[in-house]
Amino acid sequence: MVATTTSTGEGWSSRTAFILAAVGAAVGLGNIWRFPTLAGESGGGAFVFFYIACVFLLGLPLVLSEIFIGRVGQTDAVGSIRKVAAQSQSSPGWAVFGAIGAIAAFLIVSFYSVVAGWVLYYAGVMGGDLVDAIMAGEPFRGALAGEDQAQIQQRLGDMFASPGLLLAMHLAFMGVTLFIVARGVSSGIEKAATYLMPMFFVLLVGLVIYGAIEGDIAETAAFLFTPDWSKLTPQVMNSALGQALFSLSLGVAGLITYGSYIKEGSGLGSTSALIAVADTAVALLAGFMIFPIVFAVGLDPAAGPTLVFQTLPFAFQTMPAGALFGFLFFVLILVAAVTSSISLLEVPTAWGIGERGWSRHKSALIFGGGAFLIGIACLLGYNVWSDVRPLGFWSLFAETDILDTVDGFTGKVMLPVGALLTSIFIGWKADTNLLRTTTGLSPIAFGIWRFLIAWLCPIAVAIILVTGLFPSILGA
Ligand code: PFF
Repeated sequence: MVATTTSTGEGWSSRTAFILAAVGAAVGLGNIWRFPTLAGESGGGAFVFFYIACVFLLGLPLVLSEIFIGRVGQTDAVGSIRKVAAQSQSSPGWAVFGAIGAIAAFLIVSFYSVVAGWVLYYAGVMGGDLVDAIMAGEPFRGALAGEDQAQIQQRLGDMFASPGLLLAMHLAFMGVTLFIVARGVSSGIEKAATYLMPMFFVLLVGLVIYGAIEGDIAETAAFLFTPDWSKLTPQVMNSALGQALFSLSLGVAGLITYGSYIKEGSGLGSTSALIAVADTAVALLAGFMIFPIVFAVGLDPAAGPTLVFQTLPFAFQTMPAGALFGFLFFVLILVAAVTSSISLLEVPTAWGIGERGWSRHKSALIFGGGAFLIGIACLLGYNVWSDVRPLGFWSLFAETDILDTVDGFTGKVMLPVGALLTSIFIGWKADTNLLRTTTGLSPIAFGIWRFLIAWLCPIAVAIILVTGLFPSILGA
């Protein structure tokens, strides 16, 4: 039986509020931790150019598609897709990609909170003595002062070995996320975004200027913008495409949900473009914040996932005022992570409200609590359950621990499936007049959008899906 969908009636108070919340959702660990990590590992320029092409040719049309569905539907993702389908004489079965998205968002927030917990720990370590130093009127040297690389590596290892520490950080971060979502769209999510996003941009600009003064900006520009096309292997293209989807929060129905809180006005095309431009600008600025510091100290840009937690803390502690800027750097990531995690938790929460008729508090508590429990399994995978391989029977995940399995399964399977179904639905099933009038695009822009969403997106996303699942096709 199909549950009747109830609109929550909640909404953004202005277009600016929606843009801040949506940019806040897009800008997160993906921009500041994953993008520089991937760019560093993949050799820089060629990856960066290919990534930018993916954002604007595939990501942007999908951003507009998701916002369109939410704008028309005015309720949770499943109910919204059903409504667009009904108005387009298509099957209500398409709503399945809303459900896949809601499950993916629920799974992603579980490990996202664990990773954000590491950031919280580092913010605490790096800023721990700040108040003491101010009180004593002494220069702030930071807890890492004088530590060598081995000691900083040891600190990361010690953190992973401590389930209690990881759990406390995960609990704190998930608690904040749950608290904001439970307060609702305008007094929770919107308020958080309107305070945190301006703070985020001030911190970002400050850190980029610091990097430009103290670090090696010329080497960074050369690294990020000089393409060596031989480095653009199929694997690199695959990871650039996947990163573009993740960074723009696509495939998890996040923008459908946020779009459903837009009450009036159109201009969806320019809003979507703004989100894509802002997200990409932040990813590039994150590169311009991190690599000058890494290069200045002569470290390796290809350090991988430990770039932010090991390479960078070491680099900071060798630089002038590095303790303070290192602390601010982790605060910056934390702010970005909160505005993203609330958007993730909001997707299943809205589903519970719209499809099950639960109160917001109940729905947020059920999904926030559930994600917290899955997150515990993820963090135990670094210590007591380090031998557990949840999808060990599947060669693709044979070696992956719990957190990487949840990350890999959502990123390589659920997210591309969600994006693929979205593009087929909008490109081939949705009513053309409804698309035209709701988006308010000019005829030329509309034609380009329809071409990209009907042809390029499904084909390219299908390629990501297949090559992601069967890397042997790429000869990997
Ligand atoms: N876009 C976020 C990031 O780059 O960190 C991750 C994310 C947030 C994905 C919200 C999906 C989502 F709905």
